[in-house]
Amino acid sequence: MADVRVLDKGTAPDRFARGWHCLGLVEQFKDGKPHAVEAFGGKLVVFADSQGEVHVLDGYCRHMGGDLTQGSVKGDAVACPFHDWRWGGDGKCQGIPYARRVPLRARTQAYPTAIRNDQLLIWHDVEGSEPDHEILPPELPGLAEEYTDWTWKVVPIEGSHCRELIDNVVDMAHFYYVHFSFPTSFRNVFEGHMATQFMESKGRPDVSGGYGDAELFLKSEATYYGPSYMINWLDVDYKGFETEVILINCHIPTGPDSFTLQYGITVKKPEGLDDDTANYIAKKYADMFGGGFLQDVHIWKNKVPVANPLLCEEDGPVYQLRRWYEQFYTDAADIAPEMTDRFEFEVDTTKANEYWQAEVAENLAKKAADEGAEMAEA
Ligand code: FES
Ligand SMILES: [Fe+2]
Repeated sequence: MADVRVLDKGTAPDRFARGWHCLGLVEQFKDGKPHAVEAFGGKLVVFADSQGEVHVLDGYCRHMGGDLTQGSVKGDAVACPFHDWRWGGDGKCQGIPYARRVPLRARTQAYPTAIRNDQLLIWHDVEGSEPDHEILPPELPGLAEEYTDWTWKVVPIEGSHCRELIDNVVDMAHFYYVHFSFPTSFRNVFEGHMATQFMESKGRPDVSGGYGDAELFLKSEATYYGPSYMINWLDVDYKGFETEVILINCHIPTGPDSFTLQYGITVKKPEGLDDDTANYIAKKYADMFGGGFLQDVHIWKNKVPVANPLLCEEDGPVYQLRRWYEQFYTDAADIAPEMTDRFEFEVDTTKANEYWQAEVAENLAKKAADEGAEMAEA
């Protein structure tokens, strides 16, 4: 019998990634109430103190396990609904109103926080390291003045490990088949904690809606800063009307095969355009890119994980990308140079473009013929 390729589903990592994870727009946490966020196989409580500073603690009280997200904020602490123990933003127990003394070392897990681009980020590391501020994602210049408010969406995903999302960084061909866009150039650079995809693409004129618009041209640069936070700068040219769009694509792992995808869109306000119109354009793009995510989600839900993908030359550096991603699941002392060394790869899109052009032309001809036949019948 001829050799058959064995599909190795591999095993999911035994831990959650080290690095900064985004919990969403920070403003939502400032209403004086505790908020629940599912993350890292458990639940976090997020609350703002009397100064408006936002804190993140493990969601379960160290006294008897009460759910802090169902408690209340009292002064600078979150109070447990079970026996009113007060937990400060640094994780220390600030007081037990009914007790004479707080037990020594009464402390729960507090996550280091940072604010970037109006979003709340937390540092997670199973090794308990100090947060590395050097590798925070960059602040976007001019955000407050020149861009629309964020349009922000949250999509819980069950049945997939978040690493499925990461493969997208190198996957040129799926854009054509899943997103109905037509990539014309495609390049990757990995270095340190960053992985970037540079892509130019156009819409497919033989498919309607979303990316499938003949008059849509995208120039895209998308960088993961660490395991879960991507900034995607997009120059969109639609019918000659150019817009600068910034898309944040981030996620929080919630379990061994589930995560919460979040994405935000902001648009540089075109000169001479009022805010309402600019916000409307941002919403439209959010719908479009949101639709794009759902196309991926549908694929993830139905596929299996593959540890040994069988690749052709046009597939891009999948194995190198996965090695880069491994650094976040490895003890800091064991990070190998091959995970962080600079690596560049440009996919040769010549063959793909020839074939796809022909396919698009054929589909358009068929469509025209069908329409002609309908006209003749009418
Ligand atoms: S369980 Fe939280 S105060 Fe007792
Ligand atoms: Fe995709």
